[in-house]
Amino acid sequence: MSFVPLTDLLKEAVQGKYAVGAFNCNNMEIVQAIIGAAEAEKAPVIVQASQGAIKYAGINYIVGLTRLAAESASVPVALHLDHGTSFDQVMQCIRSGFSSVMFDGSKLPVEENINITNQVLAAARPVGVSVEAELGKIGGTEDDITVDERDAMLTDPDEAKYFVSKTGVDALAVAIGTAHGIYKGEPKLDFARLTNIRSLVDTPIVLHGSSGVPDEAIKEAVTRGVSKINIDTNIREAFTGRCREVMAQKPEEIDPRKILGPAREAAMDIIREKIRLFGSSGKA
Ligand code: 13P
Repeated sequence: MSFVPLTDLLKEAVQGKYAVGAFNCNNMEIVQAIIGAAEAEKAPVIVQASQGAIKYAGINYIVGLTRLAAESASVPVALHLDHGTSFDQVMQCIRSGFSSVMFDGSKLPVEENINITNQVLAAARPVGVSVEAELGKIGGTEDDITVDERDAMLTDPDEAKYFVSKTGVDALAVAIGTAHGIYKGEPKLDFARLTNIRSLVDTPIVLHGSSGVPDEAIKEAVTRGVSKINIDTNIREAFTGRCREVMAQKPEEIDPRKILGPAREAAMDIIREKIRLFGSSGKA
C-alpha cells in the first residue's frame, strides 16, 4: 500500500475510540521495527520523522525506506513530519512524498501560528496531505517549573476552540502535562483540561511526549478522546539498550548485524506493546 493520509487513520480511531501509534524513526532498522510491529498487530500505524531525523538520514532515505516497507505491508501506513518548525521544511516533506505534516507554531504568538498553519493547509490540502498543529507548550525534560508556570504552558481550551475555528486543522497536539524525553518524576496529566478541550473541538487530539507516561494514564487519555499518541524515547531506550547489552556480552563482536538485529527486535517488542495499550491492535 502507498501512504495514507493521517485523516483517514484518525477518523476511524475517533469512531472506534482507540488511538493510532505515531512512532519516530531515524534509520532502516527502526522503520522495519515500526512497520513489522504494526503488521504483527494488524494495526494502522504512523511512521514519523523529526527534522533531526531528516537531517541525520536524509529525506530521500526516510521516504524511500518507509515507502518500501509500507508497499509490502498489509496495514495502512502514514508518513508524517513531526514538529516541522518552518513552512520550507513542511514544503520539502510534501514534495518528497510525506502523506502528513505537522507545523509546530506553538512558540509563536497565536495569530502567527494561525497564519502559517493556514498557509501550510493551503499547500497541503490540494495534494491530499494532512496537517497537524500544536497549541500550548509541551515541555522538555529540563523543565523545572512551578504550578503557575505549568498552567501557563498548558493548552487553553478556549484558545484551542478559536484556533480550530480559524484553521480547520486535521489534528491538534495539546499540552496537558506531558514532556518529550525521559521524565524525572511521574508525569501528572491534566485530564479535566483534556475533557474540556475535547468538548470544545471536534478535531482529533494528539498526545506528545508519551514515553514514560504510566499505562493507566495513557488509557485514560484515550478514553477522554486522544486519537494519536507519539512515542520516540521508549524506542530509543529499547534500541540502544539492546545494542549495549549485546556489546557488553560480546565485546569482540564486529558484525553490525549481530548488534542491530537484536536492537531491531527490542524496538519491535516495545512498539507492539504500545499498539496494544493504545487499543489499535486488530484495527487494520
Ligand atoms: P517521547 O520522546 O516522550 O516519546 O515523545 C515523542 C514525541 O512526542 C514526538 O513528537
